[in-house]
Amino acid sequence: MTKFKRTTITSALPYANGPVHIGHLAGVYVPADIYARYLRLKGEEVLFIGGSDEHGVPVTIRAKAEGVTPQDVVDRYHKIIKDSFEEFGISFDIYSRTTSETHHKLASDFFRTLYDKGEFVEQTSEQYYDEEAKQFLADRYIVGECPRCHAEGAYGDQCEKCGSTLSPDELINPVSKLSGAKPVKRMTKHWFLPLNKHQEWLKKWILENHKEWRPNVYGQCKSWLDMDLQPRAVTRDLDWGIPVPVEGAEGKVLYVWFDAPIGYISNTKELCDKNPRYGNWEKWWKDPETRLIHFIGKDNIVFHCIVFPAMLKAEGSFILPDNVPSNEFLNLEGGKISTSRNWAVWLNEYLVDFPGKQDVLRYVLTANAPETKDNDFTWKDFQARNNNELVAIFGNFVNRTLVLTQKYFDGKVPACGELTDYDKETLKEFSELKSVVEELLDNFKFRDAQKEAMNLARIGNKYLADTEPWKVAKTDMARVQTILYVSLQITANLAIVFEPFLPFSAKRLRSMIAREQFSWDELGRFDLLPEGHQLGKAELLFEKIEDAPIDAQIARLEHIKKENEKKNYQPEKVKETISFDKFEKLDIRVGTVLECVKVPKSDKLLQFKIDDGMGGRTILSGIAKSYPDPAQLVGKQVCFVANFEPRKMMGRESQGMILSAVDADGRLVVVSPSDKVASGACVG
Ligand code: MF3
Ligand code: ZN
Repeated sequence: MTKFKRTTITSALPYANGPVHIGHLAGVYVPADIYARYLRLKGEEVLFIGGSDEHGVPVTIRAKAEGVTPQDVVDRYHKIIKDSFEEFGISFDIYSRTTSETHHKLASDFFRTLYDKGEFVEQTSEQYYDEEAKQFLADRYIVGECPRCHAEGAYGDQCEKCGSTLSPDELINPVSKLSGAKPVKRMTKHWFLPLNKHQEWLKKWILENHKEWRPNVYGQCKSWLDMDLQPRAVTRDLDWGIPVPVEGAEGKVLYVWFDAPIGYISNTKELCDKNPRYGNWEKWWKDPETRLIHFIGKDNIVFHCIVFPAMLKAEGSFILPDNVPSNEFLNLEGGKISTSRNWAVWLNEYLVDFPGKQDVLRYVLTANAPETKDNDFTWKDFQARNNNELVAIFGNFVNRTLVLTQKYFDGKVPACGELTDYDKETLKEFSELKSVVEELLDNFKFRDAQKEAMNLARIGNKYLADTEPWKVAKTDMARVQTILYVSLQITANLAIVFEPFLPFSAKRLRSMIAREQFSWDELGRFDLLPEGHQLGKAELLFEKIEDAPIDAQIARLEHIKKENEKKNYQPEKVKETISFDKFEKLDIRVGTVLECVKVPKSDKLLQFKIDDGMGGRTILSGIAKSYPDPAQLVGKQVCFVANFEPRKMMGRESQGMILSAVDADGRLVVVSPSDKVASGACVG
């Protein structure tokens, strides 16, 4: 690690076509921020680069759907996203955008350099074209029948019903989403990055020289590099993006995955051009003594480990990433987070529901970080971690220490006095803390690092519980001095070690102990708050989260789930054809419900007493779960099969069958005539 002088940290540029959610935060931005804050606290030279990814087809689709321009869409979401990051304390040195002038110029020049060096291959091929809309069609703009599951409305690149990856050529009866016209094939020219030419050095660079990369990253790279890499098109026929800067390329733009990673460089340049204190931008990207780290999600691995490095290498003057810590995915309450299905916790909404609780979310997302496998976010776990860890351990320890110091010593740090063996043991327990946490952070193990930080609070909590200064105060004030001295030193260490993870709380804690700033090097020391130092005002660091707001979040998600089930509802296949004769054998009647009660000891069955116009009958029906209040059915009319063979259930006889519809979410709803009819009326 010593061979590097400075670190350039990038975090994936989120698409500016929707707000950001907890999955983004957990996967990329919280770990990147922890890392950036940690290095800064160590006094290292570091840049943390972010920005919005504003080109690409999804932006144009959204714009079209809303009847606005693509620029309107990205302006709106760039602001929302930027604000969310700021509110969660993601400490970018710059958060810019790929529609900036600097970026357009730099990305265009980058393409031109590769073009002039002969690093591309030109290829003409047939692509779908919409003659009415007069434009070539991006894969997402072509819809048709899925060749695999035969659902309608599959996209040219993917079927959302069965999840298959498709190519537009495979679609059955393709139509253009723009005009509804049947697309035709036309020849078009594009520029390709010949990844096959880069395969050999990529193999050596990753598979031999970067065995230390996370297993998920290394493994994905290996499976790509074990295949023959193919040339990849870096241009598209589209009217939203950066124009391809060569003659004969009118109407073509750079592919979004070509321009976006160059955005890291453009944003660095924009920052350095504006703020001379960062120096020349090139030192952050071209000096071999700079360490480049990309924080990304797993769906971005191939672009950051293979395609972008190939671009940088082809250009010739850039450094390559030293590591690409990529996380797996975070799920939400057992389901995959999805923007289109609204299955997410949106950051802007979270802050409305839990104002001031940025650090709680940061804490939970790190505690559950999907570093090695997909993980699940649940609201119950969120509540439990807040109440049982942040409040009961960290907050409780700090609060007891500060309140007792206030009470016995007017908020002044007491003298240390003589340490007992137990005191020494306690101090020894965390003397290793610094090296342990450093080792973990240096290896991007944020989850374990935060666990170690919390362990320090646990040590403190146990120390207070064991030494009981509030009891000792009755007999031995000298001993109380020592106990609180030790506890205060632990408190100060907590303020340091939590700084990268929980920046808002660490700041409040610093103000409670009246220390402006710490440096990472002070971690592990026992003399951070000297005797006589006047502390600030003690406040609660965290507060308990009750059931009500958690239940409200769960109810919201349940509601969304039901809505989605209805939207995706696919009726069952129609059964085999029957003759009228067969149908006529069914005797369906209308009856009026006289009584309806739950059958004891059964959670499914309701017992109906029905006026069938023929003296009445009893029918059992398995719909109790859908009617928690059976009395509401009394007086209603229902349809039932009158000639159904009597059956015994739970020791009772059922004389017929009540008809119910099964709703998309599985709820059963009894079938009634739309107007009142005579009891016993025939249905047919
Ligand atoms: N917008 C992409 C995504 O959200 C990430 C782009 S990362 C960059 O998946 F390198 F291209 F900037
Ligand atoms: Zn399908």
